[in-house]
Amino acid sequence: MIFRENTKGDLKSLERIYPAAFPDEDLLPVVRSLLTGSVDVLSIVAEDNGKVVGHVAFTICSVGDVSVGLLAPLCVDPAQHKQGIGSALVREGVKGLQERAIDKVLVLGDPAYYGRFGFATERAIHPPYPMPEDWADAWQSVSLGTGADQIEGPLIVPDVWQDPSLWG
Ligand SMILES: CC(C)(COP(=O)(O)OP(=O)(O)OC[C@H]1O[C@@H](n2cnc3c(N)ncnc32)[C@H](O)[C@@H]1OP(=O)(O)O)[C@@H](O)C(=O)NCCC(=O)NCCS
Repeated sequence: MIFRENTKGDLKSLERIYPAAFPDEDLLPVVRSLLTGSVDVLSIVAEDNGKVVGHVAFTICSVGDVSVGLLAPLCVDPAQHKQGIGSALVREGVKGLQERAIDKVLVLGDPAYYGRFGFATERAIHPPYPMPEDWADAWQSVSLGTGADQIEGPLIVPDVWQDPSLWG
């Protein structure tokens, strides 16, 4: 298994695995924008014997004048779930963000999954759109130990994420 930054050529594989992993949600428009647009993003694929089997993206966003990473989406080919690929993608991405001196990563996702990487409920950084009350615990962050822990305010996201349907 290798983990590498994506190329535009990976899009075809992602067009196969995203609908399989997210049968009720079409994330391909976002994925295409992240891979082919001008968004500042760290986008990593997992490749197994030449076949792309997973993907994660971290969009560089800001809170005031501090850069933060927004983890989304994360996807593993359902045929290869529970082999540690999702975890390895998250950890590779976090390492890449630390190398870029990013202080914090945010995610909207299942606390039962992201908790294993140290993510915890985030209250001081506000998502770009109000979320349903019962989703409050799904908005999480992890600090990357670069010292700027006290970040607060609204999360400023690039155009690709300015769509309320992606937030609730
Ligand atoms: C979530 C996902 C990326 C995990 O990928 P993976 O390669 O199977 O993950 P790992 O092998 O690293 O970890 C698997 C573990 O996470 C657990 N897990 C997976 N999804 C979970 C969830 N939503 N909540 C809690 N635990 C979850 C599995 O049960 C498994 O537990 P175990 O280690 O006790 O067996 C994958 O299931 C997927 O693509 N799901 C569909 C898309 C999705 O939900 N993406 C995340 C959006 S927030």
